Amino acid sequence: MIHDQAESLRKKIEISNNTKHAKTISFVSGKGGVGKSNIAVNFSLELCKQGHKVLLVDLDIGMGNVEILLGLQANKTIVDLLQDQLPIYDIMELGPHNLKFIAGGSGLSNIFSVDKRKMNYFFEEYNRVVQTFDYIIFDMGAGATQSSIDFVLASDECVVITTPEPTSITDAYSMIKYIIGFNKEMPIYVVLNRADNIKKGLMTVNRFQRLVEQFLSIDIKFLGILPEDRAVSSAVIKQAPFALENEKSAIARAIRQLADNYMNRQIVINVKESSTFVDRLKGLLNNKGR
Ligand SMILES: Nc1ncnc2c1ncn2[C@@H]1O[C@H](COP(=O)(O)OP(=O)(O)OP(=O)(O)O)[C@@H](O)[C@H]1O
Ligand SMILES: [Mg+2]
Repeated sequence: MIHDQAESLRKKIEISNNTKHAKTISFVSGKGGVGKSNIAVNFSLELCKQGHKVLLVDLDIGMGNVEILLGLQANKTIVDLLQDQLPIYDIMELGPHNLKFIAGGSGLSNIFSVDKRKMNYFFEEYNRVVQTFDYIIFDMGAGATQSSIDFVLASDECVVITTPEPTSITDAYSMIKYIIGFNKEMPIYVVLNRADNIKKGLMTVNRFQRLVEQFLSIDIKFLGILPEDRAVSSAVIKQAPFALENEKSAIARAIRQLADNYMNRQIVINVKESSTFVDRLKGLLNNKGR
């Protein structure tokens, strides 16, 4: 069963408590194109800027775009590791601020499948590097496949990205339901991306949190809101991450705040307009921090 496989993989990557062990975070979504890769890349860079050792793994296998977003060309990709059993150190590339990344490979469709043998090999190699990083970030493809759920379930935490659109929210809910169907203890964070109005965004997130609590009986943690910002597509076109390209842009400031929220486990939302309602909401959300 998928769950058993993920559980055994999880055990494999568990090592003694007194050894350094990277925290692995999966960035997932239900609906595609909601900003996972952009957020994973720029969030990873923010952690690097704070001095953390980060490995970003593009697990949108065969359809990866992390290297494009970083404006770099990878010599080898995850496909080489899985297909030809290359050592993990041979496929690791160096990005800005000492970010290490593994590209997802391109030009392959769903034909490329990750079977049990390939999955085991990946985690054996993963195990070799887990002690040398503080954070390992998995940028997942949209939705869930049999193999992608194993990567997600082997992570320590999941960040679910959604936009304010009802279709995206519904799919995020389904994704969370799917994940906790395998592991109810999985810590889940939610990020609202492409919000055109922070106040409305906060209300959307709050409603979503209540819905999940009511129907799935789990406590999800809200990590932050990222605004709709043209600086994102400009950065994508320039192939330069927005966190580095234009540090003063609204999106760069917001991703910095997101990284701080994650590190401090305390949610701060910068709402320009003063509003007691929003203040109350902020207080409410602050109490949700771990
Ligand atoms: N905050 C934002 N403001 C404006 N545009 C955005 C924002 N976030 C993402 N986008 C746009 O959405 C596009 C898709 O983003 P991205 O590739 O990161 O999504 P994804 O969830 O990784 O997609 P996939 O599911 O295909 O992997 C970007 O190229 C960009 O144009
Ligand atoms: Mg992506």
